[in-house]
Amino acid sequence: MPLPPAAELLAWYDRHRRTLPFRTAGGGQPDPYRVWLSEVMLQQTTVAAVGPRFERFLARFPDVAALAAAPEPEVMEEWAGLGYYARARNLHACARAVAALGGFPPTAEALRALPGIGAYTAAAVAAIAFGEPVVPADGNVERVVARLLAEEAPLPGAKPRLAAAAQGFMADAAARARPGDFAQGLFDLGATICTPRAPACALCPWRGECLAQRRGIQAELPRKSPK
Ligand code: ADE
Repeated sequence: MPLPPAAELLAWYDRHRRTLPFRTAGGGQPDPYRVWLSEVMLQQTTVAAVGPRFERFLARFPDVAALAAAPEPEVMEEWAGLGYYARARNLHACARAVAALGGFPPTAEALRALPGIGAYTAAAVAAIAFGEPVVPADGNVERVVARLLAEEAPLPGAKPRLAAAAQGFMADAAARARPGDFAQGLFDLGATICTPRAPACALCPWRGECLAQRRGIQAELPRKSPK
């Protein structure tokens, strides 16, 4: 079964999109600094916990120039409690690199060259802030795609294949027209409907188009390699 129509996810996202502190009110293309900061925070902290910390961080360091100019101990202090302090140090190094460049570069490829920005963050910022037609593959996206395609190969080995399959959505003009909303639709679908246990398939915009659901194996996917 091929990938289902992107338009169905986008229509669902338009109706059900979660209001989150790091999202702009009406959709549209948000500030790359806000997108980048939220994506780094969300790598280690839940959406619910990120909210207040995101606002507080922005109040103290309102833009990338302010963050770049701040002494490192102040950045570390503001990060306290969020964990993974190497990430805060990378965040600061990245801010300095971006300030030196005069702004965030607008492609995943160029973003990937910055300190602390991996493939996922680069794709998320490029899609959400710049509308580049790329699909960031986090755990939610991997799970959604593994189920749509009934991918039986276990994680973590299947990750590159799932990321490549997710990128296949960008062959669909509807996804290409709204890459940031499409990515965030996948995140929200994975977080609220296509959940790890007991997915709510009856509410899914792609119900009937998901191979795992047809086979009744959705709760078993993605499989994991034995440790
Ligand atoms: N997880 C990571 N990035 C996210 C985003 N932009 N929206 C919702 N969940 C996310």
